[in-house]
Amino acid sequence: MARMRVNGQALEFALDPATPLLWALRDAANLTGTKQGCGGTGECGACTVIVDGGAVLSCKVAIGSLEGADVTTIEGLAGHPLTLALVAEDAIGCGFCLPGFTCGAAALLQQSARPAAEQVDALPTRCACGLQPRLRRAVERAAGAMAANAQPPQQPPARSQIPEIVTPPR
Ligand code: FES
Repeated sequence: MARMRVNGQALEFALDPATPLLWALRDAANLTGTKQGCGGTGECGACTVIVDGGAVLSCKVAIGSLEGADVTTIEGLAGHPLTLALVAEDAIGCGFCLPGFTCGAAALLQQSARPAAEQVDALPTRCACGLQPRLRRAVERAAGAMAANAQPPQQPPARSQIPEIVTPPR
């Protein structure tokens, strides 16, 4: 048994606590966007999801250790600036590693407003279609879009803009 939020929804998995998150997501929650590529050895990164803001290999983490965690899968990133940027940069390829790449890069964008190309290359997924340059450009594009959409910090109104309080005559 393990309770957590997945893509904003409270879920309770009635499974052995040793069950890898990957299989709980795919087989119990029917969130099949998360892929298994290397048989759970931790080498391919295809199973990457976001747990409490950080990228995690879902094949390597047991649900019993995630009580109360906040999990985001590729299904929870629909409409994210990064998914739009991946399409705009034609960086889809065969698509197998893409859910893991997208989750890893989205977590990176949460931690770094302008990730360096080396940080993108250090993500655990490897694109076998040769699209790494496009993937880098997509992350750069998403970072630009996110910066443009960021609200400027609220400034207190200038003193001259504060309306005077007028007391009516008695
Ligand atoms: Fe390959 Fe998890 S399935 S790293």
